[in-house]
Amino acid sequence: MIWITGHVDIRRAYCADAKTAVRIGSTINVDMPIQIGRRRDHNFTEPLGLLSDCHRRIEYFLGVLIAVTGRTPGGLLTHAQRAEVEAALSYFLTASPRHTADEEDSLFPRLRDAHDVAAKRALRLVEQLERDHDIGERHHHAVEGLMRRWLADGGLERGDTERLRGHLAALQSLYRRHIDLEDRELFPAAARLLSARQIAEIGREMAARRSIRSGRMP
Ligand SMILES: [Fe+2]
Ligand SMILES: [Fe+2]
Repeated sequence: MIWITGHVDIRRAYCADAKTAVRIGSTINVDMPIQIGRRRDHNFTEPLGLLSDCHRRIEYFLGVLIAVTGRTPGGLLTHAQRAEVEAALSYFLTASPRHTADEEDSLFPRLRDAHDVAAKRALRLVEQLERDHDIGERHHHAVEGLMRRWLADGGLERGDTERLRGHLAALQSLYRRHIDLEDRELFPAAARLLSARQIAEIGREMAARRSIRSGRMP
């Protein structure tokens, strides 16, 4: 893996929210990991791959919040750090919930409807994953409040900084396990159990959730 530094057009992030991208500008300054030879991102005709692409965005933006908190614990943030934090908070406030809706409202119900022995293990996973979504939402809510106070006041007290670290560490641990389960077990199971028609329906619902008719995000 190598790192690039510079401007990244987040409108190309399929899981990013178009309105968020417009509000914070077409580009942001970030250090973003890219992998040589990595395949292109998926589009809405490949919804299971697209859901995995979203996981890379979640990992990236959570990494931004952890890195800023680690480098400048509760201290005065630079302009670039503030921009990075704003972009990450916007992502988790607007785009990430759509990913959860993609799973809970489009993917999981179809797996529940799959009358297949192999689906039983997938359904047990789904129940666990839905609990994770609820726990993650509570941590994100706390992170949003603490980070917004940090941005508004120009600093964060030691106790709040420790609470912020705790919530971020909990999210990192939760996402590691959760994303691993989805990428390695649930999505492959869905690819086996669901029909081409069902997968196409999931893609259309994901696009509609983002007010996109078809194909790629603009
Ligand atoms: Fe999930
Ligand atoms: Fe997910």
